[in-house]
Amino acid sequence: MFARRAAWDLTPNPLAERVAARRRLGLPVLDLADANPTRAGLAAPAEALALALGELARDARALGYDPDPRGDPAARAAIAACHPGAAPDAVVLTAGTSEGYAHLFRILADPGDRVHLPTPGYPLFEHLAELEGLEVSRYPLLPPAPGGAARWRIDLGALADSLSPRSRAVLAIHPHNPTGSFVDPEDWAALRALGRSRGLALVSDEVFAESGQGGPAPAGALAGAREGPLHFLLSGASKLLALPQLKLAWIAVGGPDRERAEAVARLEFVADAFLSVSPLLARALPRLLAQRAGIRSELAARVAGNRARLGAAAAASRSVQCLPAEAGWAAILRVAPRDGAAPDEEALALAILDRCGVLVQPGFLFDLEAPPGRPAAHLVLSLLAEPEGFGAAVEDLLEAVEACAETPRD
Ligand SMILES: Cc1ncc(COP(=O)(O)O)c(C=O)c1O
Repeated sequence: MFARRAAWDLTPNPLAERVAARRRLGLPVLDLADANPTRAGLAAPAEALALALGELARDARALGYDPDPRGDPAARAAIAACHPGAAPDAVVLTAGTSEGYAHLFRILADPGDRVHLPTPGYPLFEHLAELEGLEVSRYPLLPPAPGGAARWRIDLGALADSLSPRSRAVLAIHPHNPTGSFVDPEDWAALRALGRSRGLALVSDEVFAESGQGGPAPAGALAGAREGPLHFLLSGASKLLALPQLKLAWIAVGGPDRERAEAVARLEFVADAFLSVSPLLARALPRLLAQRAGIRSELAARVAGNRARLGAAAAASRSVQCLPAEAGWAAILRVAPRDGAAPDEEALALAILDRCGVLVQPGFLFDLEAPPGRPAAHLVLSLLAEPEGFGAAVEDLLEAVEACAETPRD
């Protein structure tokens, strides 16, 4: 009775089952897999929201309903001002970045067409593409060489080899989740050239673009897109303002004038079919974006502090290394092999949960792989938690990893 594409395996994974069992027994779980900023005790986003909602209540125009399918014009102007090269008329609001992907996939590709996504990566985009009936091809990101720059690089040769006549778009995440690596300027240039020569759209997910520590974030990729290819920049309030509850995100379109206008018109048609963005909340966006420096600095301090805590603790541990990152809210821990083999990531995450009640994500959920010839396991954790709880959880988790390393195998 259901569509083949809806034949998902919906059984909870062993880690989720173990978390539910602990909660049923009233045992604590410190969730370092949680990247929800509203649970991180941050003051600036909540203050900005309270202020903006107060002003909204006094805004007579906010009380009516006269939706613009692309989104409130003042919101689009404020968004365009955040992205060099963006034009207010070429911005389309969406109810979350995920919806932005869905809109884009609908206008760019027919069922059976191919989109190219980076791997390792956050396990969302593949589902979004498959929900639109698209074929997903994954291009590798190559880890930084030991002792070299912190940046992961696109395997451009592998990407070029995976293109087919049905390829429609290449997606790049800038900076990437969970590696925290920006797309290198040379890789951007190569992606643009590939897009132009093969007629592919470039989709850049820049939701974490302002989360860097003053890292070398290349200028907004929309600037300079005039000569093509068609370029879609995605961002949103969920990461930029740490306000996911707004469900406000956007697509900024760049590229040659005629194609860009056509893309915007098609996106507007899709957006008009749903009108899913709340015009009321969209009216609050300019006020919120005006306060983003304060939000950004609180977030940056939280993430940098936790990254430093984690790095120092890992440096003192025998079997865990914290991978360097330029930006983002996540950290990757690399766990040394035992008896020459990589520890089982799921067993490790379960053992950590059992021993100290700390939840982290196994690296395979992000398709993280060890470098060739250097077996290792990976764990991924969020850096948003309040510092005190985070520091204690990190100590416990590293102790649990060491204890696992010392436990004889069955
Ligand atoms: C890189 C990236 N893009 C987009 C999203 C989804 O964002 P949104 O909450 O706006 O749908 C996520 C979610 O964590 C993400 O990691």
